[in-house]
Amino acid sequence: PHVLVLHGPNLNLLGSREPKHYGLATLDDINRALVARGETAGAQVETYQHNHEGALIDRIHQAALDAVDFIIINPAAYTHTSVALRDALAAVAIPFVEVHLSNIYAREAFRHHSYFSDLAVGVVSGLGAHGYELALEYALRHLQNRTP
Ligand code: DQA
Repeated sequence: PHVLVLHGPNLNLLGSREPKHYGLATLDDINRALVARGETAGAQVETYQHNHEGALIDRIHQAALDAVDFIIINPAAYTHTSVALRDALAAVAIPFVEVHLSNIYAREAFRHHSYFSDLAVGVVSGLGAHGYELALEYALRHLQNRTP
């Protein structure tokens, strides 16, 4: 199994960025834990962060060519703005879980709408870095139960 974890803009600053919303774990901490968990399950976990919308879209297109089985994505601010990123996920039709470190429903009204949630298998919001791990557990189980 091949899982791609995508991180949107400003998530490279995790650890120092608004820790009351996003916690103290760095993106490296999060990514390392996910890759290690993948290894114990015999899955390839790849991670990618970019601050540019187009780079994230290109990476999603590439995922289809790479036969990625499952995507975990925190679109960050693009959650609330990007029809283009949504359309890329719809185009490749790779199942995905949407993750947010913070509870977007407990914050400003402009964060309450997501362009991704209705296409997602599910959404994890407000559980901090642990949310990524839960999403990965779901993906691993989902891929295990798949008939070859
Ligand atoms: C976020 C929530 C978004 O509203 C925000 O723009 C982010 C991070 C989260 O992980 O809580 O950059 O996706």
